[in-house]
Amino acid sequence: MTGFWSIYVSILTIGTLVVLWWLIFATRKGQRPDTTDQTMGHSFDGIEEYDNPLPRWWFLLFIGTLIFGAVYLALYPGLGNWKGVLPGYENGWTQVNQWQREMDRADAEYGPLFAKYAAMPVAEVAKDEQALKMGARLFASNCSVCHGSDAKGSYGFPNLTDAHWRWGGEADTIKTSILGGRHGIMPAWAAVIGEDGVKNVAAYVRSELAGLKLPEGHGADVAAGQKIFATNCVACHGPQGKGTPAMGAPDLTASAGWLYGSSLTQLQQTIRLGRQGQMPAQQPYLGNDKVHLLAAYVYSLSQQSAK
Ligand code: HEC
Ligand code: HEC
Repeated sequence: MTGFWSIYVSILTIGTLVVLWWLIFATRKGQRPDTTDQTMGHSFDGIEEYDNPLPRWWFLLFIGTLIFGAVYLALYPGLGNWKGVLPGYENGWTQVNQWQREMDRADAEYGPLFAKYAAMPVAEVAKDEQALKMGARLFASNCSVCHGSDAKGSYGFPNLTDAHWRWGGEADTIKTSILGGRHGIMPAWAAVIGEDGVKNVAAYVRSELAGLKLPEGHGADVAAGQKIFATNCVACHGPQGKGTPAMGAPDLTASAGWLYGSSLTQLQQTIRLGRQGQMPAQQPYLGNDKVHLLAAYVYSLSQQSAK
């Protein structure tokens, strides 16, 4: 705001407060001390006005709002460029300053605790009860939308409590997954191996790799599927189909760890069109120290179930 408008707004506002203050006292002057039946002598559509004093509560309330207004305008920014003198806000109160102040306060309170854990290895932190409690709270507010409040995942979102890992279950690998996010890229195969190829290799994955039964009359050529697998799939899923954690290519011999279903129809769909599972990077939102606690929490979950 330019200096002119700042002064204009300030004079108008303070002037209004002063005039109102004068008005309430001027009106009170010369009014009778007690109530009466006498009217002021004028009538509007039959409505008459008694010549009574201002009710005391009303008068005090009016004075109260004037004082509140003056104090408020002194503390908070409201008068032109005046920033206010609210204690703790050298640059004046704003929503952003208030948020920043609360964040600073939280950092001062919890910072040393986070720093203490950040200096310990993830697997060590995973044994600390207090750290796990903090991790569980962070998980509930940042991860449960996708992985579920029990971290057991759902269709398309991995279970983080079991022994099946796409990218690896070591404490530090888990931290890397959370910090930088992950993007699993399973290519689409329909154009490469054709619809028959899709059906054959799906049947091979389900029966030979995962050891699951094929439905009656499936009509697929499992031996042909095996050839397709050896040519197209081993580069990522490995010669035995056991997966390659460095690429996030899952173990195709353990259907319990699959994200997209194990029925023939679901397998065909995955192979036909490909899949693109994305774990968003948390470093930009949470920073290293919180991710460190989360990694410890997630690691502890899978350790518990491994026992
Ligand atoms: C370029 C590497 C790559 C190749 C080649 C590849 N895959 Fe994949 N595959 C992946 C990745 C990565 C995933 C995980 C995708 C995700 O997490 O969303 C995956 C996922 C899958 C899944 C789903 C598992 C689940 O979790 O539900 C199946 C089934 C599968 N692949 C079968 C195949 C078959 C059959 C072939 C060969 C025709 C093949 N893949 C070739 C990388 C590959
Ligand atoms: C928007 C949904 C989403 C959110 C939010 C999310 N994740 Fe994930 N996460 C995924 C998906 C999808 C994958 C699987 C990626 C893939 O296909 O490889 C994954 C994978 C992972 C993995 C690797 C699992 C493995 O098998 O190697 C870990 C660890 C993980 N997430 C932890 C977390 C934590 C901790 C948080 C909270 C800070 C979180 N995720 C938040 C969707 C999410």
